[in-house]
Amino acid sequence: MKIAPELVTAQVWVKDRARTNSDLYIAIDSNVVKTTLECNYYGSLEATQDFLPLLQPEGRLVNVSSMAGKLNRYPDSIRSRFLNAKSVEEITALMEEFKSAVKAGNEKEQGWPSAAYAVSKAGMTAMTKAIAREEQERGGKRLINACCPGYVDTDMTKHNGRKTPDQGAQTPVMLAIEEIGGVSGDFWQNEKIVEW
Ligand SMILES: NC(=O)c1ccc[n+]([C@@H]2O[C@H](COP(=O)([O-])OP(=O)(O)OC[C@H]3O[C@@H](n4cnc5c(N)ncnc54)[C@H](OP(=O)(O)O)[C@@H]3O)[C@@H](O)[C@H]2O)c1
Repeated sequence: MKIAPELVTAQVWVKDRARTNSDLYIAIDSNVVKTTLECNYYGSLEATQDFLPLLQPEGRLVNVSSMAGKLNRYPDSIRSRFLNAKSVEEITALMEEFKSAVKAGNEKEQGWPSAAYAVSKAGMTAMTKAIAREEQERGGKRLINACCPGYVDTDMTKHNGRKTPDQGAQTPVMLAIEEIGGVSGDFWQNEKIVEW
């Protein structure tokens, strides 16, 4: 998805870059985890924090996350920490725990999926929610949401995705420019709020 630069600085920022090689779903070692988290989690966090103050007071910020980051694959001990996190620092701590567990070779025993991409996207969704909460707490009106575009025909899916890129862009574009009832801090797919 390409958003015109003038739109980015004026009102809206849609973040869709990600370390997305499909082998990242299955291959796991410390290097894969490091590069994937650096791009998908830390890169997105830094960009979100940098762009947010540049947006107009009623601007929108959309992070393109993934249903791969849904929490149904985690035990309660980890899922509840994602769900109850009140700050970015708590999410970052989870990402670092995952990284250490992979380094120690015991991520499965600790309840993590052996999938760097999936964990990075759980982190991205959680981080987006935490930043939306911070915005609300300081009285800000910017709407900050995360979404999944669906399974889209792109390089990442080796063109097996069922949606066209235009169809995949519908939810992010809706969140960026359409009437969404003031909702902020949610996870969306198929133009609806979905369980994360
Ligand atoms: N396609 C799907 O079915 C699907 C499903 C769920 C979520 N998503 C999410 O949708 C977003 C777009 O994915 P896509 O399907 O369009 O993937 P894509 O066709 O593989 O494009 C990924 C983009 O990310 C850039 N990128 C990769 N590694 C990077 C890095 N380390 N630093 C900066 N940029 C990097 C690539 O740049 P270059 O072109 O320069 O390599 C490319 O522009 C991603 O966040 C992805 O996780 C996609």
